[in-house]
Amino acid sequence: MHESPCTPRPRAVAQLQGRLCSLGALLLALAGQAHAIEARAPDVDISALPAQHGEWREENPYRGNPLAAEIGRAAFNQSCASCHGADADGHAAPAPDLRRLGRSCARILDTDLRQRCTRDVDHYFRSSVQKGKVKVGVVHMPAWEGVLAPEVVWAIRSFVETRPPAKD
Ligand code: HEC
Repeated sequence: MHESPCTPRPRAVAQLQGRLCSLGALLLALAGQAHAIEARAPDVDISALPAQHGEWREENPYRGNPLAAEIGRAAFNQSCASCHGADADGHAAPAPDLRRLGRSCARILDTDLRQRCTRDVDHYFRSSVQKGKVKVGVVHMPAWEGVLAPEVVWAIRSFVETRPPAKD
């Protein structure tokens, strides 16, 4: 039987696929390197904060604690400010203005609903920090799982919450 030059030959196809796959892996590795941003732990003293013993609460346990906010500011400026702006002011920052998170909760009049909304934002905040933000293999934000203790993450959240809201 006559075979057209375009008839796929399984072996050649497999070889080509193999090459494309290694090329893809190489490109991904290069992209990963270009965006390799280290999740650096801040140098802060958390010993005066109520210990969390490695446990993640549903809600920020330090809300309204001025010491936590102060420690959070130092931690934020060391680990997050390079992308989210110094003191979380979002000024000329390439990453989202974190003061916007949870703003809509403040407008809820029903106390119970407002608390649930805030708890939801707490959860989103800490899971974003733990998992980081990776899209199609590109790291927009590294994961801090295992790098930042719950005390540090909640202190940062407490600090961000004390920042004046962004102007529209
Ligand atoms: C290398 C830059 C970079 C660093 C460092 C960084 N982030 Fe981010 N972060 C981003 C980017 C970019 C996004 C938006 C990603 C997306 O949604 O595509 C983001 C998103 C977030 C979000 C979700 C915001 C939203 O509006 O959905 C939170 C919360 C957050 N970061 C917290 C932090 C905290 C806390 C730190 C420090 C411990 C930190 N980030 C450090 C780049 C960074």
